[in-house]
Amino acid sequence: GRVVVLFGGRSAEREVSLKSGAAVLAALERGGVDVVGYDPAERGLAGLEALAPDRVFIALHGRGGEDGTLQGALELLGIPYTGSGVLASALGMDKQRTKLVWQALGLPTPESVMLGPDADWARVVERLGLPLIVKPVHEGSTLGISIVDSRDTLEAAYRDAARFDTRVMAERFVHGEEYTLSLLGDRALPAIRVEVPGGFYDYQAKYMSNDTRYHLPCGLSGEDEALLATLSREAFEAIGASGWGRVDVIRDADGRFWLLEVNTVPGMTDHSLVPQAAAHAGIDFDALVLQILETVGE
Ligand code: DAL
Ligand code: MG
Repeated sequence: GRVVVLFGGRSAEREVSLKSGAAVLAALERGGVDVVGYDPAERGLAGLEALAPDRVFIALHGRGGEDGTLQGALELLGIPYTGSGVLASALGMDKQRTKLVWQALGLPTPESVMLGPDADWARVVERLGLPLIVKPVHEGSTLGISIVDSRDTLEAAYRDAARFDTRVMAERFVHGEEYTLSLLGDRALPAIRVEVPGGFYDYQAKYMSNDTRYHLPCGLSGEDEALLATLSREAFEAIGASGWGRVDVIRDADGRFWLLEVNTVPGMTDHSLVPQAAAHAGIDFDALVLQILETVGE
């Protein structure tokens, strides 16, 4: 049957999605799959049924694609799709409510507080310490995120994040190493340690820079990597996520892991992490795309 790749969309991550979608589309074409690309930002969803898809490959990132709304529409249309369902997609898009679920289950995640225009900035700093992180609750690709070093710049960081989202949170900053763990069906792919010389794995470092270093193998002992994989699987399943995805984690100086977020539609660009992890496990990009497609309905 026919596969439709959904990509583009209207979110702030549109540019990333255009790249992910083009790569996925090309891989499926090379694999001999009957495939068409479809950008809901240009054509809405009305034309989708006319294409008579047997399955949809979701390569949309952010709101309107990764956040459960599209998944709900596809459920109503009766079209099977890749990745997580409605609830997990919506939760995964909400970094703060994801934390509430993890905390309820005793899974480690840095403490956070919600910010508003009238927040008591001094109390926020007292509670979380400095530096701290300010992030839009529903954004991806590090858009609108900043590290705040002093109380004086906290409000400006809040306003910057508020340009992206109506809900903004501050999170305790965990000093340590950044890891990401990719999940594909019931397997965990090798962990990657991401290192950004001089800084912070932001939008520039994610998609533009050639200085960002991806350590693969990640440098953890076998035991620690297994621990990270188990924790990531628990975090993923805690929000009900399924199919495939990526969990971002920090390891502090004492070797403790702290969960940051789940990405239910991780990037599939040539700089992206899941394709790198898969390649290290001997799964090339084309095979990865086919395997993601096979998780539909499992
Ligand atoms: N939000 C981007 C696409 C990622 O997690 O890879
Ligand atoms: Mg993300």
